[in-house]
Amino acid sequence: MPGKETISLEEILNHPTVKKAIDDVNAESLERRAYSPLRCEVFSHPYTVLRETDRYRFELDRQAEKLLPDIIANKVQLVEGKDSVDDEVARRYGKKRHIGIVFSGGPAPGGHNVIAGLYDAAKKANPDSRVYGFLVGPDGIIENEAVELSDDLVNRYRNLGGFTMIKTGRTKIDSKEKIALSRETCRRLDLDALVVVGGDDSNTNAAFLAQEMMADGVQILGVPKTIDGDIQVRDVAGNVLCAMSFGFHTAARAFANAIGNLCTDSSSDIKYWHICKVMGRVASHLALEVALQTHANMTLIGEDLADYTDTVRLEKAQRDGTCDFNAYGMTLRHLSRVICEAVVGRAAVGKNYGVIVIPEGVLEFINEIQVFIIKLNTIIAEYNQTHDTDFHSAFLRLEDKLEYLRRLAQRSREDTSFRLWHTRDDDLFSDIPAFFQEGLLMERDSHGNFQFSQVETEKVLLGLVIDYLNILKEEGRYKIGIQKDYYRKTMEKAGLDPNRYGPVLFKNYGADEYLLVKPAVISVKTLNQVLNNEGLIKTGEKIPAAVEKLFKKSMPSFKTQIHFYGYDGRGNDPTRFDCNYTYNLGLTVFSLIANGATGQMAAIKNLDMDFSKWEPIGIPIAPLMHLEERKGKLALVIEKSIVDVDSVAFRVVKAQREKWLAATPGDDHYRRPGPIRFTGKSEEDRPITLELNAIGARN
Ligand code: FBP
Repeated sequence: MPGKETISLEEILNHPTVKKAIDDVNAESLERRAYSPLRCEVFSHPYTVLRETDRYRFELDRQAEKLLPDIIANKVQLVEGKDSVDDEVARRYGKKRHIGIVFSGGPAPGGHNVIAGLYDAAKKANPDSRVYGFLVGPDGIIENEAVELSDDLVNRYRNLGGFTMIKTGRTKIDSKEKIALSRETCRRLDLDALVVVGGDDSNTNAAFLAQEMMADGVQILGVPKTIDGDIQVRDVAGNVLCAMSFGFHTAARAFANAIGNLCTDSSSDIKYWHICKVMGRVASHLALEVALQTHANMTLIGEDLADYTDTVRLEKAQRDGTCDFNAYGMTLRHLSRVICEAVVGRAAVGKNYGVIVIPEGVLEFINEIQVFIIKLNTIIAEYNQTHDTDFHSAFLRLEDKLEYLRRLAQRSREDTSFRLWHTRDDDLFSDIPAFFQEGLLMERDSHGNFQFSQVETEKVLLGLVIDYLNILKEEGRYKIGIQKDYYRKTMEKAGLDPNRYGPVLFKNYGADEYLLVKPAVISVKTLNQVLNNEGLIKTGEKIPAAVEKLFKKSMPSFKTQIHFYGYDGRGNDPTRFDCNYTYNLGLTVFSLIANGATGQMAAIKNLDMDFSKWEPIGIPIAPLMHLEERKGKLALVIEKSIVDVDSVAFRVVKAQREKWLAATPGDDHYRRPGPIRFTGKSEEDRPITLELNAIGARN
């Protein structure tokens, strides 16, 4: 524009507001980096020692006794603070060490603070000690790709989310060759100890490494991580040693914030059902916590579905003197019916909207799907064992895989001793949508786990829900209730007598607050017939506009929005709870190292209590092992902890189900968890599940 002086790009880029906007580090990150997590009392002393206790006992697995002989007798160790120790202990505690740390598996908020805690404690004990971070997960150990941690690097990531500092990976150190290469890395870096921050599988791997590296004098320690919250450790008497893996609180809060916002939007716009799948490969802990945080209308809990018994089927079988095994556990079809009932129930009171939370791993708990997963795992494993190429490279396209399954079914017809894949399996499998077949046939991860995050669980269910809702609509059973005052006002405004039309139009006129159009009236045509039959309009006469408008309002359409909450929440900056928890895990793992432990997992006891009561401990990993099917074979792994349907947290959610579904006139009962705040009094300081389950544990 002539006469108008334009500001040069250089001036723009040098402007303080612009500089602030384009700086990679914002005020929130600075505040987080500057935060010093609280330290458990024991860490305020110059030394810590370990006291073994016999108070906690475990049931040992025979196979674990055989394969992990040097660490199977490990005990729980209590970390105690000491102001002075004898010279020999002081020398050992403060000796110069080389320690490696690796992240294994999916990211979980707080990982950087485990590193920070370990680094701070190691440097405090001896400033010459070195801490190495292995890059991109266990591959970094196998390939000796590591970075030596410095103040600058560690300070950059304090209290920040992700595993960005050294990245992560899912490789398992499970072959002789990988173990030999890892041993070589430990030798080259002159490592005294290696810390594996990971989930159940990675801690299992840590135990095997601890056994392998015993002779080399390399201590191997684990730190329980996973947003799934499925590493929870109790002894045989039910004493809680580790109530929750780190990262769970942050992920649950992040999911709950987003889903809470959807509850607000959904009850404002009143036109969508939001279907929210939340991460958690198998266990439904995250979904349960989200339910408590948001009071969403419906939350499926996989463990509860598996626990279901169809009493009607059972009674019928009893009458017939037969057994009906299908009466135990819920089928996909039945589950879709339960969802439809909820949708129809809310619509009847004018709420054709809502929020449903579905755990990622829900299909694991559905009988027929689990059978497919186990059978396909075995088929793939057997194929890989007997052929040069693996199953997924041999059969690239879905059709090729299906053709292979068809051949197996054919084999079962010719050879009755072959029971793995019957014609019936093949027929049932052919019935499911192609995208789901593809999901079920997908490659397992390196630990042999089925990758639920890659399967569109919600789509599978939704397909069935939509089909059944259409049937209910045609049968006139899925209708939106019309509020009686609204009906009256609309009719009176149009000069029509509500009491003349009411009994003709509605099945519950005069009885309820929300009026339901009679089931037979499912189209303008049927409406016309009914009005005509009752003499309210003459043949050829138009339906009064107000009546047609009310009828159209009563006809629902099931509009959905699908969301997946997983990677986003997993990358969130940690809650203050996770910041403090993980920093103390880092300090604990150093105490275990400095006191010579190996094959132990760092943990904090009493997480449900006030911070002053938190107790750092070492948990023996080998006694936690049991045999589980992986890639079609039995393998020793740490048992995953799934939602206990007898726990207080689950029972509370179950008791609130009807209320939160709110298929009654009146408001919904949504709760607004709000975003994760780093400062401010209103931030919840621990997961609600943890607090509720502690009630059960104490009583
Ligand atoms: P970890 O058990 O390794 O912590 O990972 C958990 C998880 O976030 C699950 O919730 C999810 O199913 C899975 O990782 C996704 O895996 P990927 O990151 O390989 O897609």
